[in-house]
Amino acid sequence: MPKKPNAIIFGGLNTFSRALAAFLVPVQGDSLVSSTNSPFTPQQRIHFPNLLRIPSLTRLISSYIGAEFPKILARPEVEYKQANLTVAAAVASSFDPPEGQDPYDYVFDFTGEVRHDRTEIIQINTTCKVARMIGLEAAKRKIKAYVRVQQPFYQTPSSTKATHDESEDLTPVDTLGIWWHETLRMLAAIEDLNLVILRIGFAYGPYTNFGIVASGIMVGSVYGYLKKPMKSMWSPGNNPNNTIHVDDVAGAAWACAEWMAPLGRASANAKAGEDVPFHNDKKKVKEVEEMPSHDLKLVAPLFNLVDESNSTLLSTGQVVTSYFGTTFEFFSFVESTFLKLQDDNVEDINEHHVSGWTEMITKSKPPIPNTPLSAYMDKYALSKHVVALNNRKIKDVVGYKLKRPQFNHEAVKELVDKWKDEGSWPILD
Ligand SMILES: *[C@@H]1O[C@H](CO)[C@@H](O)[C@H](O)[C@H]1NC(C)=O
Ligand SMILES: *[C@@H]1O[C@H](CO)[C@@H](O)[C@H](O)[C@H]1NC(C)=O
Repeated sequence: MPKKPNAIIFGGLNTFSRALAAFLVPVQGDSLVSSTNSPFTPQQRIHFPNLLRIPSLTRLISSYIGAEFPKILARPEVEYKQANLTVAAAVASSFDPPEGQDPYDYVFDFTGEVRHDRTEIIQINTTCKVARMIGLEAAKRKIKAYVRVQQPFYQTPSSTKATHDESEDLTPVDTLGIWWHETLRMLAAIEDLNLVILRIGFAYGPYTNFGIVASGIMVGSVYGYLKKPMKSMWSPGNNPNNTIHVDDVAGAAWACAEWMAPLGRASANAKAGEDVPFHNDKKKVKEVEEMPSHDLKLVAPLFNLVDESNSTLLSTGQVVTSYFGTTFEFFSFVESTFLKLQDDNVEDINEHHVSGWTEMITKSKPPIPNTPLSAYMDKYALSKHVVALNNRKIKDVVGYKLKRPQFNHEAVKELVDKWKDEGSWPILD
């Protein structure tokens, strides 16, 4: 039997790395642990150092991790550590295997600041520099596969073409998008790094309160409860918002690691390499010493990952609202122009959702006043997104088969039911 790997998952506790841990060491059925269904046995390890990015430790521990994750952490093959990954020594020691264990084989990099209200220097320090330090250490340790999960902080061209391939140049959105993209250049510039970039759509799934889909589901439930239509500021044009289930983020990250390990970077570049073009201010190259020069041609294996739903703002809105028994509509041109002109429109819009949600969690049987879920939509969740990616390459080259190809009522039900079971979602029936 071939030797099973050891892996390290960095960061992403608030986004999708819990789903990867659940995929690698499934919690259902004790017997799975040592069977071939899990790629790990108790003698093998997943090491899970999390980026300690919040000044207050209490806040970190109390952040939402879902009912399932503590069970996974209790598995003998999982080791969880908090480490300050802005410190090089902490990054380096994360790679040290425990006494008697072989070195780590795979690294899954879910790090990066996902909040849109964070400044450029925070993005540089906690998105770019952290990933670069992990990448450099991974190259030094000859890690066989380094999978970087790239969030959909891009705008794809609004052309008549439905979806966009990996070879097309996409525009990063906001400060956050620019530095997330810069991180890819920094990683691509590490020649010996066995890097694979997995560029995902808007991910959703059980125990995942991060992201615009989760936000839309919570707000949709409020409109269902109030028996009013949910209205969008963005006209019903072609606004693709391609989606992906977290189980596929996990499955594809694993598939990419298995694909990369026997190849190595040079062959992987030859099979699936794409240009990672410069999208920053040239002046920044002097200011941020880790940045590769703007004219350096950088190539790395890159795969898009979205489901088969071709989700748009309208289709996602319709799936969610119909699940909760209401409809998805659009403000008139005059109404939406008025809303967009107002600086405090975010608060105005939220007033309605948040008071409805408060009523729901108070009337719930039992009441759940301390739920980690909220119907508050931040400025980013309320803004227009245009993300249409083509998933053909990962299917053709890696041979990945989607587990959850459709965003539908079943998908919404799955996550609402799990939130109900753990006491986070109001029970009103
Ligand atoms: C992490 O390390 C950085 C750099 O040394 C420091 O500024 C920051 O306060 C540390 N964060 C925590 C939470 O300890
Ligand atoms: C960013 O990192 C630099 C260099 O380590 C440090 O001097 C600075 O205080 C950091 N700034 C923030 C906001 O984290």
